Amino acid sequence: MKFFYTIFNYILLVILFSCSGNKGNSEPAEPEQLNQTAAVTESKEGENLYLKYCMACHQTNGSGVPGMYPPLTNSPIVNSGKKEDFIEILLNGLKGPIEVHGKKYNQQMPSHNFLSDNELALIINYVAKSFENNAPEVTPSDVKDLRNTSSK
Ligand code: HEC
Repeated sequence: MKFFYTIFNYILLVILFSCSGNKGNSEPAEPEQLNQTAAVTESKEGENLYLKYCMACHQTNGSGVPGMYPPLTNSPIVNSGKKEDFIEILLNGLKGPIEVHGKKYNQQMPSHNFLSDNELALIINYVAKSFENNAPEVTPSDVKDLRNTSSK
């Protein structure tokens, strides 16, 4: 009987060794790590697009300009929970009276439908997680769907 235990322990050791042998530094990156890297790159791209197409009016920090351009900071529209709201503003522009944080605006925001589905999704996802916002992410195909149904 003791003999069998010794054999059994031996086999156990061999199994343990062969498992730990796989954990070298040369292992490919975990999928989560790759996803994180992709997310960082995307948010950098989103930021660059924001600086290029939105910053002139809404400012680098999203504060807007009093009486002219509403802030994107903690924006009720961005955080409405309905992704369509934000997507449609970018596709169609926005005009007419609106109120953001108790201040009225009655200006016109031009349409940004000249940007690709991917570019608009990158901008939206950047704003959604910046300037004290916490809105759900959108995909390029969310943008595409609304672009196709958009009447303008
Ligand atoms: C030429 C100036 C201008 C540019 C460029 C511009 N906007 Fe606007 N934006 C406005 C104005 C003006 C309004 C308010 C329109 C109104 O009074 O009805 C507005 C409103 C908004 C709103 C809704 C109100 C709020 O504060 O939440 C969002 C969201 C928004 N813009 C996001 C963007 C994003 C993202 C970009 C870049 C793709 C952008 N805008 C580019 C001028 C601009």
